[in-house]
Amino acid sequence: MDAIVLLKEDHKTVEKMFKEFEKIKDSGTARQRKALVDKIRKELTTHAFIEETIFYPAAREEVPETDDHVLESVEEHHVMAWLLSELSNLSATEETFNAKATVLIENTRHHVEEEEKEWFPEVRKALGRNRLLELGEQMAAAKKKAPSDPLALISAHK
Ligand SMILES: [Fe+2]
Ligand SMILES: [Fe+2]
Repeated sequence: MDAIVLLKEDHKTVEKMFKEFEKIKDSGTARQRKALVDKIRKELTTHAFIEETIFYPAAREEVPETDDHVLESVEEHHVMAWLLSELSNLSATEETFNAKATVLIENTRHHVEEEEKEWFPEVRKALGRNRLLELGEQMAAAKKKAPSDPLALISAHK
């Protein structure tokens, strides 16, 4: 699969989970909210892992104009990683749980929008279909190697 198509599919998957969270945010039980945020953590950590280990380095090296975008994206991942880690250590009965999850969702939506609108199109143009297919294959395979702890991401310690 084309690398950018794969990443956008992931974005859609996580957006569905965000909408689900917004639905149960006030009405769901603590157990339901905790379980959903755990799912979000797994999905986002895997996604960030394949971006940081494969897609971002390729973009930076092969499309140097996107350098600033890549650096900003890593900073955004950094914030996400720490929020995800804090959420995994937090009971959903704590008053800060929903607040942290909401900020995570807002930040991630902003990040996804920048990726999709501002720099993925540039990368697509510069890399071309064959290279994107190659990167897509690598990323699909790398998902199996993704950590479950968001603090294991490179961005967490940048
Ligand atoms: Fe990202
Ligand atoms: Fe992404």
